[in-house]
Amino acid sequence: MQIAIDGPAGAGKSTLAKKIAAAYKMTYLDTGAMYRCIAHCVLNQIGDRFDNEADIVKIAGATVIRFEGEQVFCNDKDVTREIRTPLVSRHTSDVARIKAVRDLMVSQQREYAKDHAVVMDGRDIGSVVLPDAELKFFLDADVRERAQRRKKEMDEKGNTKALEEIKTDIENRDSNDRNRSEGPLVQVPDAIVIDTTGKSIEEVYEEMKIHIDEAQ
Ligand code: C5P
Repeated sequence: MQIAIDGPAGAGKSTLAKKIAAAYKMTYLDTGAMYRCIAHCVLNQIGDRFDNEADIVKIAGATVIRFEGEQVFCNDKDVTREIRTPLVSRHTSDVARIKAVRDLMVSQQREYAKDHAVVMDGRDIGSVVLPDAELKFFLDADVRERAQRRKKEMDEKGNTKALEEIKTDIENRDSNDRNRSEGPLVQVPDAIVIDTTGKSIEEVYEEMKIHIDEAQ
């Protein structure tokens, strides 16, 4: 069984993907974390030279990404926290728009799905990575609510950013992700669309669960 979950930033994808994976004994793959790792390595190795595609592709090719439960390792270094900083969040779409980077990530993601029952979340899972997935979800929500959710998460980690600034970051990120030519964020025709605005995680989970149970 393969489950694809796509949608814009802050729609609840990763929380729900983890919940589904735990309940159905499936493996969760956070594909966003993989692109975040590449952006983090680029920042470390060449700084914010995100126009330098050749070097970015070289870095992506030399980066070994590994997951251990909730932890993310990049070339054997634990980067779980580093890849969630606002700087990395802002620049991840700069590496994710490069075709050669996407090709590398997509082939690793497909390889992973070959021998695991997987729940994957991202932007191009239903369209590119797992076009034959048994179930495809597209989660969306009003941008203000997505920004509020992100702010709450960030506040718990000591954030001081204002809601408007977080909302603008999300809008810019979504726009980059929707408008790139390679693996853009799209709602595929066979996706089950869920608007999570005003709904709790538990409510959305129950809705998704009905579809998963039906598909089994
Ligand atoms: O899911 P998350 O917010 O961690 O993703 C961070 C960024 O990684 C996205 O804004 C997008 O640019 C990129 N991404 C992608 N394709 C995916 C997953 C994430 O391009 N499958």
